[in-house]
Amino acid sequence: DETLEIRAFLLEWYDRNQRDLPWRRISSGDDEDGSERRAYAVWVSEVMLQQTRVQIVIDYFNRWMHKWPTICHLARASIEEVNEMWAGLGYYRRARYLLEGAKKIVEEGGVFPKTVSALLKVPGIGDYTAGAIASITFKEVVPVVDGNVVRVVARLKAISANPKESVTIKNFWKLAGQLVDPSRPGDFNQSLMELGATICTLLNPNCSVCPVSNHCRALSLARQNSSAQVTDY
Ligand code: ADE
Repeated sequence: DETLEIRAFLLEWYDRNQRDLPWRRISSGDDEDGSERRAYAVWVSEVMLQQTRVQIVIDYFNRWMHKWPTICHLARASIEEVNEMWAGLGYYRRARYLLEGAKKIVEEGGVFPKTVSALLKVPGIGDYTAGAIASITFKEVVPVVDGNVVRVVARLKAISANPKESVTIKNFWKLAGQLVDPSRPGDFNQSLMELGATICTLLNPNCSVCPVSNHCRALSLARQNSSAQVTDY
């Protein structure tokens, strides 16, 4: 059915077009060390990506991982060192939470929590970061919703709603949860974010190269650019 096709087309597109980003190069491996390393890298990158563009994050991420290659290294850092490393990224609370979270995880044995519900207990980890780490690193079948995902899903389903209302955001978590591919949840979630960042952009979406244009209700209604909809696509 339609959901299966959307999943297949998005994953196929992602496999061929995903950007080569440093946190995607850290192999998960089957051993505990591999997934620990990857969970830590995904955590750091997703926190940085929350308010900052990919091109800027790459450099900060590489320097951060060079200085603190594992969560144990980070847990021994001082807040001053962390703030210094963060300089220029803004929203310093994010850096403080990374340090606090690392300390808590290390104090409790140094094993990264693997599910959304366990991750949410770490200071500073909210729905978005928990969903990203759990799906990308540990293959938990959960959605991840950021602004890009809201826009892509709103267009696919031609949904107009006020994005400032919490009921709207809840609804998009539910819709994204129905869409997420159960066999590759992390890749699927990243394909939605990546599609929103590169093709299904706010202005002038590039529908002619979109892998799911055949399934896009906004496009079929010629509303992909509509400003009449309340949703700021
Ligand atoms: N934006 C934030 N996180 C991302 C990810 N993992 N992949 C693509 N774009 C993103």
